[in-house]
Amino acid sequence: MANQWFETVAIAQERAKKRIPKSVYGALIAGAEAGLSMRDNTAAFDELGFRPITAGQPPERRMETTIMGEYASMPVMISPTGVQAVHPEGEVAVGRAAAARGIPMGLSSFASTPVEQVAETCGSTFFQIYWAGDRDSMVARMERAKAAGVKGMILTLDWSFSHGRDWGSPHIPQMFSIKELLPHASETLMRPGYILRWLRKGKIPTLGVPNFNTDGGKPPGFFEAYGTWMMTPPPTWEDVAWLRAQWDGPFMVKGIARTDEARRAVDAGVTAISVSNHGGNNVDGMPAAIRTLPEIVGDVGDDVQVLLDGGIRRGSDVVKALALGADAVLIGRAYLWGLAANGQAGVENVLDVIRMGMDATMRGIGVANIADLSPADLVVPDGFSPPAIS
Ligand SMILES: Cc1cc2nc3c(=O)[nH]c(=O)nc-3n(C[C@H](O)[C@H](O)[C@H](O)COP(=O)(O)O)c2cc1C
Repeated sequence: MANQWFETVAIAQERAKKRIPKSVYGALIAGAEAGLSMRDNTAAFDELGFRPITAGQPPERRMETTIMGEYASMPVMISPTGVQAVHPEGEVAVGRAAAARGIPMGLSSFASTPVEQVAETCGSTFFQIYWAGDRDSMVARMERAKAAGVKGMILTLDWSFSHGRDWGSPHIPQMFSIKELLPHASETLMRPGYILRWLRKGKIPTLGVPNFNTDGGKPPGFFEAYGTWMMTPPPTWEDVAWLRAQWDGPFMVKGIARTDEARRAVDAGVTAISVSNHGGNNVDGMPAAIRTLPEIVGDVGDDVQVLLDGGIRRGSDVVKALALGADAVLIGRAYLWGLAANGQAGVENVLDVIRMGMDATMRGIGVANIADLSPADLVVPDGFSPPAIS
């Protein structure tokens, strides 16, 4: 078989596009409404420049850190994604890749693999939950994750149930079946390798949500779980504090975009926050996460770990985020492209590409340790960040 190594995430995306059906690719692109925030997440990184040195570069570069108490060989964590049907090994492949490369993993409560199986593959697994269902069911979900051995919780709050996309939302069947697949036969036939990979594993893509139920019964279908979540009234900050108190380990709130809310999260007792717009899937038009990062770090950076989440496609992006004050980053689509392109090896490939990119950038700008990165290493254009909230 030809060498499947890819040297950038962009190439992984190209390969993924060729390997998976159009609607699955569309589900990965995602992005709400016109896709303004999704595009800004990556465009904002392109606005940031570096100030390289020419001689005296450090012979070695250090990237090790801890994320919410867990060792990380570089300041990168797998962001939870609920995209199903990308690859038959799904989250197990991602968990193995994360463990092999020494980084923590976030597992979505809408993932296709039970938390017990994923926690076995990666010792540093964090379980992501939504404010969905009644309080007892939320606590039961956390207890199930705890019994599975997960190290911490991620509460994602930035989903606003916006369902329109200017390029059309991909069709999501309630369950994959011959009846459901037939209308999409032409797409699937265009990608025979995709369906063969599933058949070789003796399965077809399913859209059950196995981490949603707690009674050991049959997992709900995607729409059943999604409906429960959508019908649950949004939480107040007092609710968040209550949920946080039900978990006696590391706890992240994912989806912070404003300093006042970052402070509320700190007051609720969280360990970490992710500055995020859900990969451009929250309110369209909100700025890129990297633009709001400096102000948020300035306000709460001494109190909690601050992770940047959105738009990371290269090691140099990680360096930019750390220079602007992030403790670490979460990656979403980057590893999904790798997974779709080449399973576990593809995810490892993406992590290696990011590590090598970080290393080359740190060498070029003359920084030996991630702890020494600062805004002085960057060229930040005027008006890069929105005006501060007064
Ligand atoms: C297709 C897709 C599915 C996602 N599913 C979830 C999810 O189930 N839970 C969650 O907390 N975030 C989810 N996210 C958001 C990601 O965790 C992450 O915040 C986002 O992808 C970061 O942006 P990036 O893709 O540019 O790295 C999803 C994102 C995408 C693109």
